Amino acid sequence: MSEQVTRAAGEIDEELPSAARVYDYLLGGAHNFAADRELAERLLRVLPCARDLARLNRAFLRRAVVYLAGRGVRQFLDIGSGIPTVGNVHEIAQEAVPGAHVVYVDRDPVAVAHSQLLLEGDEHATIVQADMLEPETILGHAATRRLLDFSQPVGLLMTGVFHFVLPDAEAHCVLARYRDALAPGSFLALSHLTADTGAEQMAGAVEVMSHSSDPVQPRSHAEIRELFAGFDVVEPGVVGTAQWRPDRPEQAEQEPGGSRIYAGVGRKP
Ligand SMILES: C[S@@+](CC[C@H](N)C(=O)[O-])C[C@H]1O[C@@H](n2cnc3c(N)ncnc32)[C@H](O)[C@@H]1O
Repeated sequence: MSEQVTRAAGEIDEELPSAARVYDYLLGGAHNFAADRELAERLLRVLPCARDLARLNRAFLRRAVVYLAGRGVRQFLDIGSGIPTVGNVHEIAQEAVPGAHVVYVDRDPVAVAHSQLLLEGDEHATIVQADMLEPETILGHAATRRLLDFSQPVGLLMTGVFHFVLPDAEAHCVLARYRDALAPGSFLALSHLTADTGAEQMAGAVEVMSHSSDPVQPRSHAEIRELFAGFDVVEPGVVGTAQWRPDRPEQAEQEPGGSRIYAGVGRKP
């Protein structure tokens, strides 16, 4: 069934790897093609910790959603949501806050097709196919408006996606448009690749991903911190994914060799 959905997603170039499907492969999923698997294996050769990074990023996403739910957030806009996997945002959010509303957004047709299948009949969650660089399309979409009330706090999730925004795309302007649409008390949870640690390996990863539909752009700690402009960053700040409010203290040590993905949560005052 999953392969049928993957193939039925239409408009897919099976020979051109995509970040959504490479990430799915790294996480042990089955919604990927031979070209995605080959690229992922090349990625693992230059960045052997890539699987751990994907897992740590997912774990950060889960903790961030639980944290936001604990602060009264009942609606989430998850941009660059990816192919559904274990621990999807609507499952985590709805477990923490029954009836929580979730709008997923991705531009990848396979991610969208699988999300549609998973969310069939769910009145509280949906998926919009759109490019995050078009905030007006996403914010004004009928499905977004149906499920999200922008006069109330929203949890804006941008985990593992902003490094696909290349420098010429004016990252700050894009984020500012989302920020301006949010009510006070809303939150931004963001994680982002960096080359601050292991620059050589990350340069190899950038080269490998340049052969996909989704080239990446690592940013420095200062640049990633800057993406939270207009938000009050909550403790412990912008840190390695494993160091962001670990469930158990020893989990903070799970990034051997330093952080390759920074993560943080900010509150709009
Ligand atoms: C590495 S996955 C992250 C998935 C999930 N957010 C997580 O943290 O586990 C990145 C996702 O972002 C999507 N993506 C990349 N650039 C995008 C864009 N400009 N607009 C919408 N989605 C994008 C990809 O298709 C992919 O599904």
